[in-house]
Amino acid sequence: MKRTDVVDRLLPKVVKASASVEQFAPSNIALCKYWGKRDRELNLPINASLSVSLDYLGSHTRLIPTEGQVDDVWLNGQQLQPGARFSQKVSEFIDLFRRDQNLYFKVETRNNIPTAAGLASSASGFAALTLALNDALALDLPPEHLSIMARMGSGSACRSLFTGFVEWRMGQRKDGLDSHGVQLEQQWPGFCIGLVEIDAGEKATDSRSGMQRTVETAHLYQSWPLQAAVDLGKLQQAIAERDFELLGQTAEQNALSMHATMIASWPPLLYWQPESVAAMQKVWQLRSQGLQVYFTMDAGPNLKLLFQRADRATLLQHFPNLETVEPFGC
Ligand code: PMV
Repeated sequence: MKRTDVVDRLLPKVVKASASVEQFAPSNIALCKYWGKRDRELNLPINASLSVSLDYLGSHTRLIPTEGQVDDVWLNGQQLQPGARFSQKVSEFIDLFRRDQNLYFKVETRNNIPTAAGLASSASGFAALTLALNDALALDLPPEHLSIMARMGSGSACRSLFTGFVEWRMGQRKDGLDSHGVQLEQQWPGFCIGLVEIDAGEKATDSRSGMQRTVETAHLYQSWPLQAAVDLGKLQQAIAERDFELLGQTAEQNALSMHATMIASWPPLLYWQPESVAAMQKVWQLRSQGLQVYFTMDAGPNLKLLFQRADRATLLQHFPNLETVEPFGC
C-alpha cells in the first residue's frame, strides 16, 4: 500500500493554508525499542514499543506560507539548499499534506537537542511538523491520526505526539490505521532521564538502513520480536507498580539486546565508541555500589541514564555534564 492511499483515508481532498503557525513536540526515549519494519513504505513496525517523552527537549517548528514554488527549509537558524537531505525529507513529508496543490512553506525547525546524534530529533521534528501542518491547514485531526501521519515521516515520531509514557501499538492492518501512539495514564513524579553525550556528530548509518540491514542479515534478529513483547509487558507492569528496578533492568536489557542484533548484522553495525563502553561500565560499577541507575541507548553512541530524583546529586558527581529531564515534574 502507498502512503498516498493512507492519506486519502485521513485528509480532505482539498486543503488551504491559513496563517503562520508554530508548534512544539518533545523528543522521546524508548524503553522498549522499535527495531525492524514489516512495511517500509508506511513505517509499520515488527514489534510494539514503549517510550517516555522528554518534556521541554524537542523541536520547535514554524510554518509560514510562501508564494514560492519550493519549500524554504531552515534548520537551527541556517537556510538549507533545496537538494539537502534534510530539506528533501521535510518537503516529501509536506507533499503528503499538500494534496497536489500549490502550497509551499518557509519551514523553520529548531532542535534543542543535538540533531542526528541518536537523541531522536527526527522523532520530535516530524511530530512538530505534523502538528504545525495540522494547524496551518486547519485539519483538526484527532491525536491518533496525527500520530499515524507523523509515523510515515519517521516511525518513532508517532510517539512524540504525546507526553509521558507512550505505547506504540504495532497494529495488524495493512494500511496501518491501527499502528499509532497511545498515551499511558500513569505518571511517575521523580522519574529522571539523564543524557550522556558521547558524540553529537552525524551518525554514519541512519536507523532506517540500520534496521533494514539487521532484519535482512542478522539471524539473531529472529529472537527480537518475542523479547520485545515480553519486555513491553514487564515495562507496563513496572510503570503500573512504580517498580523502578524492574523498569531499569528491562529497559537496559532491551537496549543491549537490540544492539546485539545490530552487532550480529553483516556488515556489522556498531554504534558504540570506546567512551560509550566506558560510560556503561561506570553505570554498572555505580550499580554494584548500590546506586539505582540504568541506561538505554539508541542508534548512536550516546547513553540515556534512567534514575530517580533522590539519586540525582550523587549521579552528577560521576557524570558532571549530565543534562537531566524529569518528564513528570515534581
Ligand atoms: O524512528 P526511527 O526511524 O528514527 O527509528 C528509531 C529507532 C530507535 O531509536 C533505535 C528505537 C526507538 O524505538 O526509538
